[in-house]
Amino acid sequence: MSALESFACEPGALDLVWRDGSRSRLIAPWLRDHCQGAECRDPRSGQRLVDVAELPEDTRIVRAERLPDGELAVHFAPDGHRSVFGEDWLHANAFREEAGREDVDPNAAAARRPRLWDAATFAREGLVWTPWSEYLEDPSAKRRALAAVRDHGFALLSGVPPREGAVLEVARSFGFVRETNYGALFDVRAVIDPSNLAFTNLGLGPHTDNPYRDPVPTLQLLHCLENTAAGGESVLVDGFRVAERLREQAPDDFALLASQPVDFAYRDGRSAELRARFPLIELGAEGEPRAIRYNNRSIAPLRMPAERMERFYRAYRRLSRALDTPEGRLVFKMGPGDLVLFDNVRVLHARTRIESGGRRHLQGAYADRDGLLSTLRLLEAPGAAPGGQP
Ligand code: OGA
Ligand code: ZN
Repeated sequence: MSALESFACEPGALDLVWRDGSRSRLIAPWLRDHCQGAECRDPRSGQRLVDVAELPEDTRIVRAERLPDGELAVHFAPDGHRSVFGEDWLHANAFREEAGREDVDPNAAAARRPRLWDAATFAREGLVWTPWSEYLEDPSAKRRALAAVRDHGFALLSGVPPREGAVLEVARSFGFVRETNYGALFDVRAVIDPSNLAFTNLGLGPHTDNPYRDPVPTLQLLHCLENTAAGGESVLVDGFRVAERLREQAPDDFALLASQPVDFAYRDGRSAELRARFPLIELGAEGEPRAIRYNNRSIAPLRMPAERMERFYRAYRRLSRALDTPEGRLVFKMGPGDLVLFDNVRVLHARTRIESGGRRHLQGAYADRDGLLSTLRLLEAPGAAPGGQP
């Protein structure tokens, strides 16, 4: 059944009324710019062949008509162009005036509405560990694991063969490894003369990795090969939940942390001299937390006027305490074959002190969310038509 109830046009816009009662008002330049014809779009890739600068400034609609198969043909002046729009295409892509925001891509919408959690969430719902063999054999198991990264900011896998390099196979199962100065993968175990405190037996407070990079790696994987040590438990904290609570409880502190850039740095004196400058809480265009960067090991000397520094330290200390509360900490111990995959700009990770006597060896790698979300969309809507192009 047709989704389009009726349409009407005037020189400036085409008005559509959908069967569900919602409305779209598509202005003439938008329609002309979105022409799907072979002159305007490469038929193979669907990519646009024309630039918006080439559109006449007085682009207007002369008339529109319904074709027998339900498509809409629109005639434009002054260039005399005729564009044909499929009803399904219009239904999928036209903004609804009632919506008040631009949510048409369900993945983008879900990514903007993270499901905030604390330790009690998983005490109620249970922690889901996806066996690696199931992830490989059953696309719906893989889809659920990747959706958990999108929605909760992390996923747990079990039974990943505890051998060197397996972490890279996991990263390549949904996306691409982000190689860094630490290599394609890095070993997390106590070494003599460590280049990073992660490579010691010290406990590590909640942190995000590598805030000294721009762009920062948006995903991290940690795979356990061996863990016979006492201690060395893994901790995850939902940084977006902490940020939202801070916004409610201490709006001035939140505003300062979200606007004051700080420097992060890492140097090993040999191969890396990394720096980046960002606020601890980065907000997106709609004011939503977009990224948390928090790492007390790599924050560089803070520089700002003393009066602001006073306020900054109050806010910084409040954030630090809020990030490390028993309610917020999800604690579990990884054994051989366990792997945690998490959003490194949302979920902070930590570990408790490793006691001497046993051995603990993890391998870590970085990857990025774009590849994971792309794989997830393909699993959720196999064969879907391409949407916008780069
Ligand atoms: C790291 C790290 C946590 C752990 O290597 O970045 O935080 O459990 N490791 O050892
Ligand atoms: Zn870390």
